[in-house]
Amino acid sequence: MSDNNLTLKINGKLFQMDADPKMPVLWAVRDMLGLTGTKYGCGAGLCGACTIHVDGKPARACLTSLSQVQGKELTTIEGLEADKLKRAWTEHNVPQCGYCQSGQLMSAAALLTTNSKPSDRDIDEAMAGNICRCGTYTRIKSAIKSASDQNSFTQHSDESSDNSRVEQEVTA
Ligand code: FES
Ligand code: FES
Repeated sequence: MSDNNLTLKINGKLFQMDADPKMPVLWAVRDMLGLTGTKYGCGAGLCGACTIHVDGKPARACLTSLSQVQGKELTTIEGLEADKLKRAWTEHNVPQCGYCQSGQLMSAAALLTTNSKPSDRDIDEAMAGNICRCGTYTRIKSAIKSASDQNSFTQHSDESSDNSRVEQEVTA
């Protein structure tokens, strides 16, 4: 078997690919697998637009090579199961242009998985690496608080359509 014959497990599915093991995961998910919800921003680990989960932890897909994720579970925005968080994103009308939002959601979801009641400081620290050129930081913070256990959260009566709207916005 060629050294370039790699397997990725993404969103619960296995993908075989012939690719350079040094290639960043970002290019594999976007260009080879068509999972374009993960965005390319800086390519240098500075903006967070490319954030995915590797074994449940946030990782920068632009700096993570294919060889580093062999045997690991990857999750992209297309496979993110965080309905409460997505509803909160809609409730607070978070996205503006939307470009950074899949990365923002991935970081927020990872935070709430390990800390269901994050303080303001916890949120600031967890989200510090995700840049939003539109300045939606205040709404992002409000949405994370709404989705956490520290505040009661009122669900929309039409949850499914709200949820799909957010997914469309962040994966477009
Ligand atoms: S594109 Fe990966 S951190 Fe900016
Ligand atoms: S919503 Fe435009 S970059 Fe964040």
